[in-house]
Amino acid sequence: MVKILVKMYKIAVFVSGRGSNLKAILDRLSQFESTAEVVCVISDKIECSAFKIVESKNIPTYTVSQNDEKGFISYAKILLLLEDLDIDLIVLAGYLKKIPNILIEKFEKKIINIHPALLPAFGGKGMYGLNVHKAVFDKSVQVSGATIHFVDKVYDNGKIIAQKSIDISDVDSPEQIAERVLEIEHQLLPEVVLKFSENKVVEKNNRIYLLN
Ligand code: GAR
Repeated sequence: MVKILVKMYKIAVFVSGRGSNLKAILDRLSQFESTAEVVCVISDKIECSAFKIVESKNIPTYTVSQNDEKGFISYAKILLLLEDLDIDLIVLAGYLKKIPNILIEKFEKKIINIHPALLPAFGGKGMYGLNVHKAVFDKSVQVSGATIHFVDKVYDNGKIIAQKSIDISDVDSPEQIAERVLEIEHQLLPEVVLKFSENKVVEKNNRIYLLN
């Protein structure tokens, strides 16, 4: 009998909140005949709601902080863990803390983030979650959307990998924008994660392309 060994594409997901994007990734990977798998979930919060999503899935969770302290593991140790696990891609799916440089340097072009607006507008420090949608609403912006980009040392600054827009000209509240954008996020993020796992994200002409 010939055994075919398939190398799994290993993903670590960082979360801070409810984890709907994490769920979207897991759902998509399970529907699709994919060699990609989420092998750990990391949060900055001890009782992160997103952890509940992986409770029954045998996916380990870790809580990270700058230093080792009760209930937390330092970023330095998380880095060792991610290296040990041979992680191919780190996905920030609603992770609201800044990723320290030690991780960014080790995982250059291997960390991606989803942002709930069309970067480079409405990004930067303090621009997360509903803050983004409030700013978009207050400016009377008519189109918003989701952006997936590489993470570098500056907030929301890395090269853009994918974007999807949506008409928000008729909305009454920032919450309504959040709802519409989230729907897009749940399509776009799993799509991009799959492209990475299939080696279909390439850099050419100083731009990023997703191959068919
Ligand atoms: C998402 O809307 C994501 O784009 C946003 O946090 C939310 C997390 O939702 N991220 C940022 O604002 C990062 N700057 P989720 O926990 O349900 O996936």
